[in-house]
Amino acid sequence: MTRFTHDIPFVEELAPMVYRCWQMGWNEANGGNVSWRLPAEEVEAALKGLPGAEPGPVQPLPQPQPTLDGDCFLVTGSGQFFRHAPERPDEVFGIVRIVAGGTAYEPLWGYASGGRPTSEFATHLVGHATRKRVSNGRERIILHCHVPEFIALSFLMPLETRALTMALWQKMPECIVIFPDGVRIVPPLLPGTVKIAEASAVELEKSRVISWTHHGIFASEATPDSVFALVETVEKAAAIHRRVLSAGGPQRGIEPALLRELAENFASMMVCRPDLPDAPEA
Ligand code: 13P
Ligand code: ZN
Repeated sequence: MTRFTHDIPFVEELAPMVYRCWQMGWNEANGGNVSWRLPAEEVEAALKGLPGAEPGPVQPLPQPQPTLDGDCFLVTGSGQFFRHAPERPDEVFGIVRIVAGGTAYEPLWGYASGGRPTSEFATHLVGHATRKRVSNGRERIILHCHVPEFIALSFLMPLETRALTMALWQKMPECIVIFPDGVRIVPPLLPGTVKIAEASAVELEKSRVISWTHHGIFASEATPDSVFALVETVEKAAAIHRRVLSAGGPQRGIEPALLRELAENFASMMVCRPDLPDAPEA
């Protein structure tokens, strides 16, 4: 396989990951979006002297994010296909800087065909503001995908955070280690609105992974690789659970006692302690 190269190292790293999301069947057509919070100095160094790297007109944000003022983001454009990322990176992606105390953004590069950031930009920004604070700056990238197995569960299960989290944890030992913070449910809401941004922010206080009911997954992590792995693990567990439901429903699941042992043994790999009942089950 020929290696994808690009003058901007962040684009060089993200475009193949975005293409891989399409290969996985997670991002059909323009479905899904991604945003990556980048160190401003590194963006400035990468864009210096690059043809087409001209700041564009400043655009207001519907929801101010003061804690992101000065931060730069590599963001997919609205209507752009993940499948096209390596072929047309300067159309699929853009780099913007948050300015004016977090009330506006300034395009710095990309969106070559006159595009603009994803229609979900407001939710990405409130997600970044929340997860930047909660993770003490560790998390930097948010990925939204239309993952089919995970979406299917929103038609088959009660819309309850606890029930969904337990169902997934009980399917593979890795799950509680990879997402000990669980998966939190956002009710069905119109995509691209301030309302879905606000509802998502509430759930992102407690977890890196949220379910947009009947729509997809929205996940936050440190790097392109780690956010891909997080989505991949949740989707795999969802696929197992959906197959079990299709076969008549579970006869058993990984016992809470084993989940507690996993949480003890792998504590050093986990971002937090999982919310499991303390008392041993009868
Ligand atoms: P955008 O093309 O605006 O990113 O929208 C895709 C999507 O998945 C909306 O939820
Ligand atoms: Zn979507």
